[in-house]
Amino acid sequence: MIDFHNHLIPGVDDGAADAAGAVEGLRAFAAEGITAAVATPHLRASLLERAGERDEYLGQVDAAWARLVALGGAECPSLRLERGFEVMLDTPAPDLSDPRLRLAGTQFVLVEFPFMSVPPNAGPAIFELKLNGWTPVLAHPERYGNFDDFAAAAEWRQRGAYLQVNCGSLLGRYGPEARDRAWGLLERGLADYAASDYHARGAPRMAECRAALAAAGGEAQADLLLRGNAARLLDGQPPLPVAPLRRARPSLIKRIFGGGR
Ligand SMILES: [Fe+2]
Repeated sequence: MIDFHNHLIPGVDDGAADAAGAVEGLRAFAAEGITAAVATPHLRASLLERAGERDEYLGQVDAAWARLVALGGAECPSLRLERGFEVMLDTPAPDLSDPRLRLAGTQFVLVEFPFMSVPPNAGPAIFELKLNGWTPVLAHPERYGNFDDFAAAAEWRQRGAYLQVNCGSLLGRYGPEARDRAWGLLERGLADYAASDYHARGAPRMAECRAALAAAGGEAQADLLLRGNAARLLDGQPPLPVAPLRRARPSLIKRIFGGGR
């Protein structure tokens, strides 16, 4: 599996606090069978407009990234490490020309909306990035409190964005609403990727997510969401379409007594 959304870089955001936390994360990734990880610390797009602060933060991340690479080489040499950012779109048209800001230096950029809320200008903001030559991958749309419109998600994709759901959402780690939205995206064929959004707490849960998708009859979808499409992203290629998930019906016993997702 390949993960391009996590907070493994030590000491720069709310992910791994220090080298020990990063090592714990690297080992957890390897233990789940993750073969490549793109580390994506948080970055507010508005910071890019303030050269001094921008250079200071990017310099801190550069140094911490070098520490992560050294730790990875020592602890998990078979885990491929790349870098990027999770860019919060708190300004409409950020300059993402610095390849460090994009996923593994490709044209893909991981973006999120501020305040865990879909803004009214979400569609135009995505289109603007696309016009500037970058391909937005929207992180965890299912986690936005006001996301209740799958038609909007389809429109974002038509405007050139791709959608990344969190493994934890599918597993119910963010509550029933995010869980149902995440599965709803899959059922409509609107999700392109699934990623860990690992914050150095608990497990990446990609293996658990893969098992849950397989149990729901989505083995082929799991392979694209958790591996194939991310591999294509690392090569600068667009994702392959993920077929709408037609979930296997739970057994009669589960339907009567509860359980399932
Ligand atoms: Fe994140």
